[in-house]
Amino acid sequence: MPDDRPGLFRRILSVSNDDPRKIVGVAVALCLVCSVFVSAAAIGLRPLQEANKRQSMRQNILQVAGLMQPGGDVDALFKQNMEARIVDLRTGRFSDAVDPDVYDQRTAVRDPALSDPIPPDEDIAAIKRKAHFATVYLVKDGSGGYRAVILPVHGYGLWSTLYGYLAVKPDGREIVGLQFYDHAETPGLGGEVDNPVWRAKWPGKRLFGEDGELRIEVVKGAAATGEKGAYQVDGLAGATLTSRGVNNLVRYWASQNGFGPFLRTLQQELSKDG
Ligand SMILES: Cc1cc2nc3c(=O)[nH]c(=O)nc-3n(C[C@H](O)[C@H](O)[C@H](O)COP(=O)(O)O)c2cc1C
Repeated sequence: MPDDRPGLFRRILSVSNDDPRKIVGVAVALCLVCSVFVSAAAIGLRPLQEANKRQSMRQNILQVAGLMQPGGDVDALFKQNMEARIVDLRTGRFSDAVDPDVYDQRTAVRDPALSDPIPPDEDIAAIKRKAHFATVYLVKDGSGGYRAVILPVHGYGLWSTLYGYLAVKPDGREIVGLQFYDHAETPGLGGEVDNPVWRAKWPGKRLFGEDGELRIEVVKGAAATGEKGAYQVDGLAGATLTSRGVNNLVRYWASQNGFGPFLRTLQQELSKDG
């Protein structure tokens, strides 16, 4: 006997559009279809997002070293000029304990096995924990030596933690550049840390005095002229709190508790490597 009952789809269509069961059913079906699309897009685009993140990180590293050219091939420039190395922040020496290509300091700092709490009296950058390892980038000079070392730095501003790179000459004393790649300070106020005019005030400034004392500071207003000015950078107008945060984070990472021990022995470490 032929089955002349209408199919499920026809039965649903024949139900009145005002029927609450149909309204709920259609809404649920629509949600399911949309969630499948969104999940597929999120999973499918993940490799592309990762690649973009990596490219943007490389671009920032090249920029702080003054090597980024407009329209330049980021990956080619990075490969040609940069060498990623791991520094053990507990000893200030290069380490092979983790692979610099996969190590992520921002993830490690949340892992108690890979980081230590910072005592509150030392925590001038307000970052609470310090990872055991940091990835630094050695900038090759093209003749077997190095012309700079790029250090990852971070610390609290007014509204957010600022993440960036501090590039230093191989003498471990002279700054080549400072650049942030992630923060949420107010555009036009604290966000002026990204202004090229302000960033241009950093190259040539000195971290340490002749006696090795940490002297770099971001001052309120304009930097002094003469010898004192070599250790000072102008504060940002209307953004004293972000400026103070930058001062604190640069000083923390250059200090004994940050990369200080590494910077002190940098020249010997690099000559072993070069
Ligand atoms: C909406 C708003 C956003 C602000 N954002 C920042 C900021 O990102 N960084 C900062 O240092 N100050 C910011 N300030 C200003 C601070 O509250 C504070 O007044 C300022 O840091 C003092 O700087 P000055 O002594 O140079 O004027 C903001 C103020 C307002 C009202």
